[in-house]
Formats: sequence, structure tokens, C-alpha cells
Amino acid sequence: MAIQPTDQLASITLDDGDVASQVRKAEFSDRVLIRSIISRPDSGSGLAGQKVRAGGWVKTGRKADKDAFAFLELNDGTCPGNLQVIVAASLGDLGQLVPTGTCVVVDGELKLPPSGTKQKVELRAEKVVHVGTVDPAKYPLPKMRLTLEFLRDFVHLRSRTNTISAVARIRNALAYATHTFFQKHGFLYVHTPIITTSDCEGAGEMFQVTTLLSEAEKLEKELLKNPPPSEADIEAARIIVKEKGEVVSELKSAKQEIGPSVDELKKAKENVLKLEERSKLKPGIPKIDGKIDYTKDFFARQAFLTVSGQLQVESYACALSSVYTFGPTFRAENSHTSRHLSEFWMVEPEIAFADLEDDMNCAEAYIKFLCQWLLDNSHEDMKFMADKFDKGCIDRLKMVASTPFIRVSYTEAVEILEEAVKTGKKFENEVKWGIDLASEHERYLTEVKFQKPVIVYNYPKEIKAFYMRLNDDLKTVAAMDVLVPKVGELVGGSQREERYDIIERRINDSGLPLEPYEWYLDLRRYGTVKHCGFGLGFERMILFATGIDNIRDVIPFPRYPGRADL
Ligand code: 4AD
Ligand code: MG
Repeated sequence: MAIQPTDQLASITLDDGDVASQVRKAEFSDRVLIRSIISRPDSGSGLAGQKVRAGGWVKTGRKADKDAFAFLELNDGTCPGNLQVIVAASLGDLGQLVPTGTCVVVDGELKLPPSGTKQKVELRAEKVVHVGTVDPAKYPLPKMRLTLEFLRDFVHLRSRTNTISAVARIRNALAYATHTFFQKHGFLYVHTPIITTSDCEGAGEMFQVTTLLSEAEKLEKELLKNPPPSEADIEAARIIVKEKGEVVSELKSAKQEIGPSVDELKKAKENVLKLEERSKLKPGIPKIDGKIDYTKDFFARQAFLTVSGQLQVESYACALSSVYTFGPTFRAENSHTSRHLSEFWMVEPEIAFADLEDDMNCAEAYIKFLCQWLLDNSHEDMKFMADKFDKGCIDRLKMVASTPFIRVSYTEAVEILEEAVKTGKKFENEVKWGIDLASEHERYLTEVKFQKPVIVYNYPKEIKAFYMRLNDDLKTVAAMDVLVPKVGELVGGSQREERYDIIERRINDSGLPLEPYEWYLDLRRYGTVKHCGFGLGFERMILFATGIDNIRDVIPFPRYPGRADL
């Protein structure tokens, strides 16, 4: 089902199948997008004879015919392909045009190239409108195969490479697909806070938000420059107050005008107060009873970057029914794996009047929709990924879009893993009921045993968060994880504990303080309702779709332990 582009966002994402003979000018820009020339079904041949202005960055440039011409492969990021531009030496300094990375805008005429060449159309320049030069000796991304790892040192320039720009377009398509899916199904988009005071997962992996450190530093500097007053300074100021007071009394008893002297006395008193106040200033972090005094912090309490918008979005689900949040989340876990980031994006739907099965159905439908969307709308970029990174990525999308997901309980999953161990499979982590499934176990289930997405549900309560609904066996909770080949855990979700007494007990049993969750308990105190939701790791979805190996290469500006560039 191809969706017709309805706006600017869509027109960047989607093939428009435009075969009109007139070239389409870009909106909000004085040129023609390279995509609207070469990504047409006829690869642009139907536009021969048209005059266009095109611009982009040179991928490859070379001089030919004894330097009479330059051939430029121009890319403007609107599609994976390049437009071949031919510039005659009479139009400018060809030496400036050919270095990789140069920005070039030209006016010219589209022509059919000589038969036998790869491209179906090329642009014969008539005027060079703009050149943003590059010194090839200094440009960090020369024309050669650069590893994704190398490119991580240049996150501000790597968007010019074929791979990172294809990932960016796929990422954009998945974001658009996400909103399309949830809007289509009547979900309301809710913006949950990034700064929060409650730890959703209760795992203590939050980054703290505080101005105490910078304030302490500022004060330290200020006190060095302008030392606090000594006791003697304050005493001297007090003496002045006394003297000014005496002057006022004398004038009063002499029945003379006291106005100006009273003003002076007031000023002297204010000065003493100021000095006393400053003398109390101490360098360092404010403390009370040996502990940091957070009442002096920016929010007058401890605050953090959110690990998940779930708790807050629940308050909207329990009023507006079906909602979702989609935003950045932060985890201060010291993970150096290819599946973890310190800042990642999560899509979190939350559904009222719904249980674990509804939750699984929604996650499955959403993931299938994303896969089908890429097949329908990101064909060129997916083909690039298949050619360069992962031969199987398109077939994987097709398989996931069309195959029902396997559903097994945690207990069944452990039995399957135990069976595998019995028949010789070796895992680094021991398999027994009660363990948190490790990535190797998850991948065995989805890649080896079933070779398709697997939903594992009903996990032991000890290894899951406090908010998950306790099952009648009192041992497991109504949790579910969606595991997919290539990635392992893609989604984590659950039916939420809606019973007041039980969730209060679960918070206590988890060793968490009740105070930050009082508002959350209100949702159970007043008008409680069964509800469920899940979180899909957006970057993990991109890994799954593209076949790229490291999560650091599918987010524009990756943050991970030891690294936060730009
Ligand atoms: O399983 P998680 O921790 O679940 C939650 O945060 C729930 N509050 C979601 C909810 O029910 N609304 O995280 C959800 C997903 C994981 O399945 C994984 O795909 C991704 O988020 N994820 C990460 N992705 C990248 N880097 C990390 N450090 C991640 N941690 C979790
Ligand atoms: Mg999880």
C-alpha cells in the first residue's frame, strides 16, 4: 500500500512516481531536487531538454578530454543516487570543482547521455552559480572507503556519506511511519517530560540534572576574586551603624531635620546585612546533616533525565484512552555493547481498557507496519543497505511484515533453552528458571530456534520492574519482550499493575521510596483501570531494518560512555 505524499515531510520520504514531462522545482529552495530528476520511474530520461538548476556536494569529480570538461557526481542527500553533471572549462576553474566534498550549484540542460552509460540522464552545465570549495589536503572524508568506526570521529560531516545519509532517510521514514500508524489507530501523541523526578525502571540508571556543581564553581571563583568580609569588616560596619544612629538621635533631640541622616543610617544597616550574608557564603556544594542539600538545587529537589516516558504517559492513557509518546530517553548504564546508547529514542504507546494480549497484538501490528512501510517507501535506500551491508535485510522485512510472531511464555522459553543446552548448545550464561534472559539466549530463540520474531511473556517478577501486573501464580508478571533476529530485544512492555495495594507493595518490595511515586499511585487510588503499553527502542528498529552492526551508526549524534561529541 503506497501512501501518497501529502506534505513536505512525505515528499522527502516517499517515491512519488512522478513521470510528468515538466521538471518539478523544489519547494522553499531555488533548485530542483536531484531525487525528483533521477528517482523517477524513467530515471529522469523523460526530462531530457529541460532547463534546471541543481546543487549538491561532489561525490567524485574528474577532469576529462585534456581538462576541457569536468565530470561531477553530484549528491544532495535527497536520494542515494548521484546526478552526473558535465562542466566545460570555459565556465570556471575546473580544479576547484572536482575535489570530493565541494558544494556546486549549476544551471544547465538535462540531456540523454550517450547510449551504454549507466545513468539515464545527465546535466550539461551552462553556468556555475555557486562553488563551496574544499581543500582536499585537509578535508577529513576523502574519496575512499571509510569505516563506520572512523566516521564516528566526524559526526558533523559523516551525514555526507552514502551510508549515513541512507540511514538518516530510513530513520526519517520510520518516524513518519510511527506517527502514521498510531494516528491511524486513534492514538494521541503526548509529550512527556525529559526532566523528571521519578525513576521509571527503578534501576537507578539516571543522569542527574543539577546546577549545584556549576553554582559551586561560580561561587568559588567569585569568592577568590572578591573574598568574603572578615569579622573585623563586619564589626567596623556595625560601628558605622552605631555612629549614624547617634547622629540621628542628636538631631532628633535638637528638633532638627533628620531625613538625610535617617537615609544614611538605613544604608549603613543594609550594608551590615549584606556583609553578614556574604560572610556566610562557603565554597563547595551546600550540605545539610552531612548530605547534599537539594533544596538549594535548581528545582529545589533532586531531578534527572528520564529513562522512559511511561509513567507520565500512563496518566494521559488513564484519561484519554490510547496515547503514545516518542522522544529521547537517557540511561547512565556503563554499557559498551553495539546495542546500547546513553541517549536513545523510544516509542511508547499506552492503552487503557487493554490487557497483555492487546499489548502484544499492538506491538506486532506496529512492527509489521514499519517493515511494510520501508518496503513500500524506502526501496532505493533499502536496496543500498542490501548491497552494502546485509544481503538479507529486504527479505527480513518481508518475512516480518507477513509472518505471525511466535508467542512463548518465559517458562517455555527457558525449557527451550535448557533443551538446547542438553543437545550441546553452549551459552556463556547459565540457563535456569529465574534468570534474566541474556542477549545470547534471546538471539538463540529468534535467530536459531524460530528464525522469526518471538514474543516472550510472563516473566518472573523478581527480574522485572515494579509496575508490571502480578499474575495469579504470584510468581510471574504480565510482561512481554519482542525479540527479533539481528537485534534481540526490540520491545519491552507489560500490562500495568492497576491494583493499589499490590503496586504499593511492589514499590516497597523493590526497595524504592514511595514519595516520588505518590502521584503514580493516585492513578490507582482514583478511577483505576486495566491498561498496558510498551517501549520500542527506535535505534534498535533501525539496526534491525538496515542490518547495520553498531547502534552508534544509526543515530545522528551518538552518546555512549566516554563520548558525547558536538
Ligand atoms: O525494556 P525497556 O527498559 O522498557 C521501558 O523502558 C518501559 N518503560 C517501556 C514501556 O513499557 N513503556 O526499554 C524499551 C526498549 C528496549 O526493548 C530496547 O529496544 C530499548 O528500549 N532500549 C535501548 N536502546 C538503546 N540503548 C539502550 N541503552 C536501551 N535500553 C533500552
Ligand atoms: Mg527491557
